[in-house]
Amino acid sequence: MRVLVAGAGGAIGRPLVRQLIERGHEVVATTRSPAKLEKLRASGAEAVVMDGLDAASVGEAVARAEPEVVVHQMTSLAGTNDLKHFDDTFAVTNELRTRGTEHLLAAADAVGVRRFIAQGYTGWPYARSGGPVKTEEDPFDPQAPAPAMQLSLDALIRQEELVRAAPLQGVVLRYGSFYGPGASEPLVELVRARKLPLVGDGAGVWSWIHVDDAAAATVAAIESDVTGVFNVCDDEPAAVARWLPYLAQVVQAPPPRRVPVWLARAVAGASVVAMMTQVRGASNAKAKSHLGWTPRWSSWRDGFRHALGPGVSRATSAARARADAASCREG
Ligand SMILES: NC(=O)c1ccc[n+]([C@@H]2O[C@H](COP(=O)([O-])OP(=O)(O)OC[C@H]3O[C@@H](n4cnc5c(N)ncnc54)[C@H](OP(=O)(O)O)[C@@H]3O)[C@@H](O)[C@H]2O)c1
Repeated sequence: MRVLVAGAGGAIGRPLVRQLIERGHEVVATTRSPAKLEKLRASGAEAVVMDGLDAASVGEAVARAEPEVVVHQMTSLAGTNDLKHFDDTFAVTNELRTRGTEHLLAAADAVGVRRFIAQGYTGWPYARSGGPVKTEEDPFDPQAPAPAMQLSLDALIRQEELVRAAPLQGVVLRYGSFYGPGASEPLVELVRARKLPLVGDGAGVWSWIHVDDAAAATVAAIESDVTGVFNVCDDEPAAVARWLPYLAQVVQAPPPRRVPVWLARAVAGASVVAMMTQVRGASNAKAKSHLGWTPRWSSWRDGFRHALGPGVSRATSAARARADAASCREG
């Protein structure tokens, strides 16, 4: 198939392009930066410059590519980890999820694209009531876990509405929290510096996914003809109180500090408290049965050890982080 990947140079875009090429698909990879074209071409893709927030630029790129499938993997999260001011941190990403999706869908419609796959998010958007693990049948909470997250929740909901209403085969992949190459170095640095404490009882449940597994699920969605929303995460949703001390152990950091809720709320804000103590995890059963996909790293325990453990040296991950930063600066 001929597949246009918008946001091909990001944490998920890179393994996705690699896997698509390996499976014999033709890939048109987009970036905003002419300086990144060569690197994208080296991966075996055709590369084009496209600004996802500029309707004309999107229209031109999609019309020229004439893809059968469009994949929206554009976010703007590199170099930001301020969760206290969540909506500020996610402001451009929210635009990409709403306006960016509108531009891509309009361009896709104009050239008769058959399938459209968008990057969503699972986990904290689900209502924080009932059981700890949610399926796609469970509602998102209309009220975000904290006021500072409301615009980001609204953008995720709007993106799903846009894809559902579009006159093509639409899929939203609600990815769990990414880890793996290019996806978790800032998190690991926080844990090593003991700057990611265990808040309160640490009962917030997270669903993780290795970026290679997220890319594999995306390939499965591209190659299938199913539509709708799918949680794409591993088999083991886990409370922060379980995964955070384990992650510290894996990256050979001291155990995380413990911080009471009142102090975390004052210092880090209500978003962080909600994510550490209240949020729910997600079930991947629908993605497994409908996409015929199984995560290689079915548990974050094995995945963390493989992707972040002692075998992956600090030097390697620091070098990767420096290379990522350099490629961002070039951009
Ligand atoms: N589910 C999750 O947990 C999740 C999801 C997404 C990201 N993250 C995390 O966030 C961090 C950064 O993510 P990332 O590496 O994917 O980088 P990013 O900076 O979020 O960029 C991702 C892609 O979006 C593209 N992009 C950004 N703005 C654009 C625009 N206006 N028009 C067109 N394309 C645009 C970038 O393309 P160019 O820069 O080449 O133009 C890049 O290819 C990583 O740690 C990652 O793991 C996590």
